[in-house]
Amino acid sequence: MSESMWQPLLPSDLPFVDALADLVHITLQERPEVFAERLRLFPEGCKKLVLGSKIVGYGISHPWMTCSVPALDSMLESLPPSPNCIYVHDIVVSTDARGKGASQAYVQQIKSLATSMGIKYLALVSVYGTEVLWKRFGFKKFKSAMKELETYGPFAKYMILHI
Ligand SMILES: CC(C)(COP(=O)(O)OP(=O)(O)OC[C@H]1O[C@@H](n2cnc3c(N)ncnc32)[C@H](O)[C@@H]1OP(=O)(O)O)[C@@H](O)C(=O)NCCC(=O)NCCS
Repeated sequence: MSESMWQPLLPSDLPFVDALADLVHITLQERPEVFAERLRLFPEGCKKLVLGSKIVGYGISHPWMTCSVPALDSMLESLPPSPNCIYVHDIVVSTDARGKGASQAYVQQIKSLATSMGIKYLALVSVYGTEVLWKRFGFKKFKSAMKELETYGPFAKYMILHI
């Protein structure tokens, strides 16, 4: 992580985010407007990972309610007026930048952001067997009946971190 760093995501970065998402999320595709909407609604939670002058990752998060997940590829329209969590919508680190703690650093920044907003939980949907990784950062599996979770595939797990 010493060479790469998280920086604010800008609207002009969105084509890179879309390209990276298309490459990584073969079975879980989302429309470009989904990322664009998150950035418009909550730029504070949207970051790019930069190595040299190259974007090698992104993280997208926004305030939300626990025990609720937006369906994959859906628009939010607006943020809840009294959110109790920050929902980590997506983190991608490209293969050449993985294993250097970048995702951990992003989660740490979102934790600090939540704290500054008086929010005590982070939540996410774990896919691709990443549950072990999120557990390491303090997330725990949380069972809650949400039909939207099915849109993330049969092995998706809802997880919450209590800050
Ligand atoms: C998951 C991801 C964001 C992790 O990024 P990262 O910056 O490499 O994460 P960190 O360096 O903080 O942690 C790396 C650790 O995560 C582990 N890890 C990464 N992907 C994993 C997976 N699918 N299942 C289990 N562990 C995984 C690595 O093995 C590594 O463990 P180690 O430290 O014991 O070697 C990155 O691998 C990625 O972009 N994957 C594809 C997209 C994805 O799965 N996004 C998350 C969806 S919930």
